[in-house]
Amino acid sequence: SKGAAMVTAVALRVQAQRKQIDKLLALFRLTHEHLVGVRDKMRAELEYGLKKTTHPMATVKMLPTYVYGIPDGTENGKFLALDLGGTNFRVLLVKIKRGRKSVQMYSKIFAIPLEIMQGTGEELFDHIVQCISDFLDYMGLKGAHLPLGFTFSFPCRQMSIDKGVLIKWTKGFKATDCENEDVVEMLREAIKRRNEFDLDIVALINDTVGTMMTCAYEDPSCEIGLIAGTGSNACYMEEMRNIELMKENKGKMCINTEWGGFGDNGCIDDIQTQYDREVDEGSLNQGKQRYEKMTSGMYLGEIVRQILIDLTRQGLLFHGKVSERLQTRGIFETKFLSQIESDRLALLQVRGILQQLGLDSTCEDSIVVKEVCGAVSRRAAQLCGAGLAAIVEKRREDQGLESLKITVGVDGTLYKLHPHFSRVLQETVKELAPQCNVTFMLSEDGSGKGAALITAVAKRLQQSQKE
Ligand code: GLC
Repeated sequence: SKGAAMVTAVALRVQAQRKQIDKLLALFRLTHEHLVGVRDKMRAELEYGLKKTTHPMATVKMLPTYVYGIPDGTENGKFLALDLGGTNFRVLLVKIKRGRKSVQMYSKIFAIPLEIMQGTGEELFDHIVQCISDFLDYMGLKGAHLPLGFTFSFPCRQMSIDKGVLIKWTKGFKATDCENEDVVEMLREAIKRRNEFDLDIVALINDTVGTMMTCAYEDPSCEIGLIAGTGSNACYMEEMRNIELMKENKGKMCINTEWGGFGDNGCIDDIQTQYDREVDEGSLNQGKQRYEKMTSGMYLGEIVRQILIDLTRQGLLFHGKVSERLQTRGIFETKFLSQIESDRLALLQVRGILQQLGLDSTCEDSIVVKEVCGAVSRRAAQLCGAGLAAIVEKRREDQGLESLKITVGVDGTLYKLHPHFSRVLQETVKELAPQCNVTFMLSEDGSGKGAALITAVAKRLQQSQKE
């Protein structure tokens, strides 16, 4: 009958659509072999970054941090910390008590308006100093002259603990006249320009290093720091003898890998999709930070958006109509992805979230959107896990151990907010580094507390050198 024919026609169409969707999602499914490939390539890039002859060309820069060890519990005093480069800009006052493993912190969050992030360097640093001034007023500390740790979460070539040149902006920043400049000096000059208070800038710190230090304060086997947030990066304690850029051979130093740049030489092109390339083309730093663009909060929502646009164009979503909303960059923030993928959420609620984002969806649409988010975030967690597996395996081999027990300090919105990211990341590390027993430790505010600890250690060394 006619009715039956129509039912069959609809069923066939639904089936055909399903096939198209599955074909697209399959692009994001990584096999064990893919992941082993990523791990091994990351391992090779870590070595290139460390070796003198290959370092200048290396895409994973392996930057010395001048952090030689972890806190020993004798740290003491009041410190200021600045945290620039994550979701927010923060100024903190951190009080550390000798022997006690607890610290007190007071902090204020300040917005960095887009026009400042992408204006001139002077404007950016003047704004920072304005925020410090507000904070000092607020705390009643204007005349205090406190030692300060500057967490600046971008790739810096450091010459010492308190001197470092910005190599290249990453994430959402592009203020002019900062690249190739010493950012500590830029901060000092901005303080001088304001001529209102004096600060003793003791340390320049990457957020990964602050995170590692915070966790190491409680667990000395923590020798790795990981950020899975707006950006993606890791640091770890490396044997001095392996760091060819440094003359010394004894002991260890923390290396900021800047692994976000992994793949910038094309070595993971085989797993990149058309959607990754579109995200790259719409970014502030085309061709750069390719691994970061597949693994971090600033970009995952963008990948999702590109896929949804394509599915809509193919007539598989949103009645085939690409709305203006869907064409708006940045609508899928990490917090929305996390909500959409939460298992506790009914589909109706997923539709509610899409509605909030300005996207009208049917029930079928919401199922597809959830699947897309799942595929993209799962791949991100797996890739991040493959990178981490490369580091822990390197540590195990370098120490000539059959098996290694090691702790990773972790921070970042993606790791903390997303319902599946951390589990998939951990499963992947287990699969790819079976001889390593890796414990993940959430860092409570690494960029603040860690910065203060590093500053405390640096200050102590400074003083003992003077004596
Ligand atoms: C970017 C920065 C890096 C930072 C990471 C996480 O990758 O280049 O320095 O650690 O984001 O914030």
